[in-house]
Amino acid sequence: MDKMWSGRFSASASSLLDQFNASIMFDRELYREDIEGSLAHAAMLEKQGILNAQELSSIRTGLAQVREEIESGVFEWTISDEDLHMAIEKRLTSLIGDAGKKLHTGRSRNDQVAVDFRRYVLRKNLEIARQLKALLETIIDIAGKHTQTLLPGMTHLQHAQPINFGFHLLAYAAMFKRDIERLLSSRERNNVSPLGCAALAGTPHNVDRDFTARELGFESVSVNCLDTVSDRDFALEILFNISTMMMHISRLSEELILWSSYEFGFVELSDEYSTGSSIMPQKKNPDVPELLRGKTGRVYGSLMGLLTVMKGLPLAYNKDTQEDKEGVFDAVATAHISLDILNEALKTMTVKSENMLAASKKGHLSATDLADYLVEHCGVPFREAHFITGKAVARAEALGIDLSEISYNELKAIDERIDEDIIAHLQLEHSMNARMSAGGTATLRTLEQLVHFEHYLKELDI
Ligand code: ARG
Repeated sequence: MDKMWSGRFSASASSLLDQFNASIMFDRELYREDIEGSLAHAAMLEKQGILNAQELSSIRTGLAQVREEIESGVFEWTISDEDLHMAIEKRLTSLIGDAGKKLHTGRSRNDQVAVDFRRYVLRKNLEIARQLKALLETIIDIAGKHTQTLLPGMTHLQHAQPINFGFHLLAYAAMFKRDIERLLSSRERNNVSPLGCAALAGTPHNVDRDFTARELGFESVSVNCLDTVSDRDFALEILFNISTMMMHISRLSEELILWSSYEFGFVELSDEYSTGSSIMPQKKNPDVPELLRGKTGRVYGSLMGLLTVMKGLPLAYNKDTQEDKEGVFDAVATAHISLDILNEALKTMTVKSENMLAASKKGHLSATDLADYLVEHCGVPFREAHFITGKAVARAEALGIDLSEISYNELKAIDERIDEDIIAHLQLEHSMNARMSAGGTATLRTLEQLVHFEHYLKELDI
């Protein structure tokens, strides 16, 4: 009968229950937040005259020792202690005696776990945003070197129009920028302290919630205690934000996988971030982007898991909520390593511009330019221009060349109205640079986009 809550029980908990009920195997991840929360709570209790100075001082000494024991690996994590909150309090009391037993005054494990987990998630929002910032720097760096590197822009994975590689990469910069913004706005929205909400209804003790909120670095105190002890929106938000980020990573990974195939040959991943085959000696496999793509599914699973745990829970705290942590810990760990490895894989990758250019010369990427030329310079209605261009493409096909390589005479034979200056219009670079509308692929516009992201990063103080 060594449970803290055993007063009203006459028989001990079965060991099966201990195993089933415990969160101590995973919630120790929150030990820093738990100890800091207790220190803030104790300081507040002393300020309010609920603890005396002597008691506060021994709580501080005791918690410092507990922290030391955890960090040096000698702390005894026992499943029958149920969770880290009770394990730490029990050890504290065994170290300092009665003062330890007063620490839980005006507090419940319900607001305690809400504080710990919320602070952990707020911290992780920031850490992941910082890693995304580093990734964005790498992407912008590579993009800056390739604002004139032609490659086929695609729709339906079919050659569509010529673009430059910098422009292509900046599409990912835009996605990762939004990911940073989402993480930071979630941090702002959820930066409220649950401490002092106690079990569900607040506490009759004269606590100072503003004081503990300040001590713990929260912006303010939460508004409604019943909501606060059962709210896990902050955890759902980080899961959604990581899921969306992984979805972006997965899309980029898919392109890296395609691009490093013989069929594309647009990039080569470095040896450091490629793997071999156990049977085929010639192989170099893109395991890194493949695993990034795969891990995305696992993160989505955690998001769906917690959404489902929370669905239909009556107010306020329910033990179901204990299922909130493992998925978040796993998603956060996945985010950390994924961002690091993607960043390194990109930094060390070789861009094969010549293959990109060769691919651009397949598929008549400047066909739209011929149609546009007929409309603009010859007054041909677009539908008709589309038809004439189709004829020109068929002629190029018959000659076994790309439309960008066709001669003036061939075009003239198809339509009298076409002038010699068409040849310049059909050049791939010309075609790319003609797309000057805001946000377009023209090198000038791409450079503007680069400046946009550089400015964002410069201002981003995290
Ligand atoms: N281990 C619990 C959790 O993670 C802590 C809160 C327990 N509260 C309770 N009333 N049983 O959710």
